[in-house]
Amino acid sequence: VTVSLGERSYVIDIGEGKLASVGETLRSLRAGGRVAVVTDTHVGPLYAAKVTDSLGRAGFTHRTFTIPAGEESKSVRRLVELWNGFIESGMDRNSTVVAVGGGVVGDLAGFAAATFMRGIRLVQVPTTVVACVDSAVGGKTAVDLESGKNLVGAFHQPAAVLVDPAALRTLPPRELRAGLAEVIKYGVIMDERLFGDLEAGIERLLRSEPDFTGEVIRRCCELKAEVTAQDERDAGRRAILNYGHTVGHALEKVAGFGTLLHGEAVAAGMVAASRIAGKLRLVAGDVTSRQKVLLERTGLPVTLGQANSAAVIEAMRRDKKTTEGRLNLVLPTRIGQVLVVKDVAPETVAEVLEEMHGG
Ligand SMILES: NC(=O)c1ccc[n+]([C@@H]2O[C@H](COP(=O)([O-])OP(=O)(O)OC[C@H]3O[C@@H](n4cnc5c(N)ncnc54)[C@H](O)[C@@H]3O)[C@@H](O)[C@H]2O)c1
Ligand SMILES: [Zn+2]
Repeated sequence: VTVSLGERSYVIDIGEGKLASVGETLRSLRAGGRVAVVTDTHVGPLYAAKVTDSLGRAGFTHRTFTIPAGEESKSVRRLVELWNGFIESGMDRNSTVVAVGGGVVGDLAGFAAATFMRGIRLVQVPTTVVACVDSAVGGKTAVDLESGKNLVGAFHQPAAVLVDPAALRTLPPRELRAGLAEVIKYGVIMDERLFGDLEAGIERLLRSEPDFTGEVIRRCCELKAEVTAQDERDAGRRAILNYGHTVGHALEKVAGFGTLLHGEAVAAGMVAASRIAGKLRLVAGDVTSRQKVLLERTGLPVTLGQANSAAVIEAMRRDKKTTEGRLNLVLPTRIGQVLVVKDVAPETVAEVLEEMHGG
């Protein structure tokens, strides 16, 4: 897949064994001699050696930085550690950062690369579904502050993205399922055929069959690349990627961060958005039920569970993306198409959320 952004264009290379081709890729990019590999305590022991062996074979001097696994590592403290570590290892403007891991590693290492010496080369090697189809593609990097997630960051496109679908086999099953919520999302917002393929073969993704998984990742990357190319800086069209996320984020907050995985909250959020679209007569009922069935087969929640619907609405209103308390929502018109609906009546949202409470 090629992401077309003029001078900042890059290739997403998907296939078994790609972890072992990082060295070659860096050579073809004419990267300088020094490379920082950033990974975490779960991914490092499984995959870092494949990457560093390949860098060694290609003649690069490399050092591996391993951060503790988990969102807490997307912090200013870890960022400063990376910057200092880069200096200690003699890295310069022509050095490269290779991020091997999920979205946490990708966002942190990406921001370190975006800022070190005003920006150095970044190669993403995503190892979670979320990272493969979302965070590694599109150029957003960030760290969290005490007061909220992703509050400090930069746009910094990678020079290449290398995906080995076989690496997803070691993912904890719950992480795998949660990541698939974002995959299903792409089907709903942009690609009816992808949605149909998922209906036909979601079990093959749950088993991480490499061919089918690679094919689905490729399609999702193409879709994200298309949206990103049209709207690199997140001013308009990119908003459709937020399908399911307004209710989802609110639900995540109300349930308490860490209780629900992001993808799980997004799954329930997509059902909510689709039901709201139903109430507004934008879609036929089967558009919601097809999503619900597919999400349930994936093992994802399709109700609010224990969360209080009034609290969810309140959290939606406080969301930084809501302008002056108005609810702008991405709503489906059919499978494969969504639109942004401005100023949805809070009563309509409340009605749907009450219906979704625990059942
Ligand atoms: N930049 C963007 O556009 C963007 C988009 C979506 C999400 N994000 C960010 O991504 C982060 C979430 O990413 P995530 O869901 O990948 O979480 P993550 O990076 O925390 O990974 C989830 C867990 O799986 C482990 N893991 C990763 N790959 C593994 C593998 N192959 N085998 C075994 N274990 C593995 C990790 O160590 C971690 O414990 C959030 O911080 C979010 O803000 C960014
Ligand atoms: Zn998401």
